[in-house]
Amino acid sequence: MCDNTKFKLILIAGARPNFIKIAPLMHALKDHPTIQPILVHTGQHYDEKMSDLFFRQLNIPHPDINLEVGSASHAVQTARIMEGFEQVCLKIKPDMVLVVGDVNSTVACTLVASKLGIKTAHYEAGLRSIDRSMPEEINRLVTDSISDYFFTTSADADENLLKEGVHASKIHMVGNLMIDTLVKNLPHINSAGLTLNLINKPLSIKWGSDFAKGKFGVMTFHRPSNVDDKHQLLTLVKTWNEISAHVPLLFPIHPRTYKNIQTFGLQEEVDKIENLYLVESLGYFEFISLVRDAQFVLTDSGGIQEETTYLNIPCLTVRPNTERPVTIWEGSNKLIRIEDIHNEIKLILNDQGKKGKTPKFWDGQTATKIVQQIEKIANKLMHTIQN
Ligand code: UD1
Repeated sequence: MCDNTKFKLILIAGARPNFIKIAPLMHALKDHPTIQPILVHTGQHYDEKMSDLFFRQLNIPHPDINLEVGSASHAVQTARIMEGFEQVCLKIKPDMVLVVGDVNSTVACTLVASKLGIKTAHYEAGLRSIDRSMPEEINRLVTDSISDYFFTTSADADENLLKEGVHASKIHMVGNLMIDTLVKNLPHINSAGLTLNLINKPLSIKWGSDFAKGKFGVMTFHRPSNVDDKHQLLTLVKTWNEISAHVPLLFPIHPRTYKNIQTFGLQEEVDKIENLYLVESLGYFEFISLVRDAQFVLTDSGGIQEETTYLNIPCLTVRPNTERPVTIWEGSNKLIRIEDIHNEIKLILNDQGKKGKTPKFWDGQTATKIVQQIEKIANKLMHTIQN
């Protein structure tokens, strides 16, 4: 697996949004003359639909190592990743570990590498929601406080890092890897012929006859703050009922949310909503084709705020804050409360949805820039070792 003459770079992918970010990096590193990429999948997401499908669709090489940690509490999941990854580092002795995003795999692997004295780089560094009740915010703060190199998606992230005392020479604003994946795949994505099998009704719905371009909304909800609390989830279900009277809602549902709907006894309530179409979580191509053709997106996701900004689709984010403020300042994203959903959708249906522009460097070239920076860092590190 390892060529000892090359700079050994371990890349970490654990959860669904990581795969979309890792794909363009793995492509840019293919057959690289001086860098040997080693892909480690932690197994944080493991389902066919949450993991394998993304590897296939995005043409990501099979992981060199899979830690297969699976689901567990935060502490147990993080600990399992750390235990497994320490063994990997001791065996492979990488020159650098590159982590992406803000999931448990990101923080766990950074902790392991930095304690072993291995250089670490964080892509998507510096994003801050300033909300420590979000598990991802803790992951971001810890990862950035011990990383050596910082790749950022926007100027606000650079400012956050500088304020926290990171030296400017360590920060590289490179743009957005999710947008690399989008730019590459958009020309091949087509909704025509898409059939969605529903899980809350004994039917399927078809593109063209049951839903058509610009005539439906796409929803995703999976944040613990929205779906782990019965009262909050019930309020959301009532709101879906209200708005679906005006516009059909397609809802590719995250396993966490579906589980909670059942656990809280809300299944019947959800099944009754006529214009709400629940489907299992979708592959990348299917999901992006829906977002591109939707009238709006209603979500609590992080990454979807960025994808809708690039596609210039009005995005209503049901959260009190966002770590991606550039999608609000420049893009088509709006932060709203549950009680605002109804009015905001009305505005959109009256053609007054928010539109925006694409942030700087969100242009499909980010993976190339990251690889160029890693080449420079590798040269410096190798030079230091030789002297
Ligand atoms: C994780 C990330 C979150 C990211 C999200 C994308 C953390 C702290 N959270 O949240 O930042 O936005 O991924 O999806 O890292 N499950 C399955 N199949 C799977 C994976 C999970 O059924 O392949 C179920 C598990 O039973 C688990 C639940 O979904 O209990 C939640 O999964 P987990 O990975 O813990 O967190 P996410 O909510 O997916």
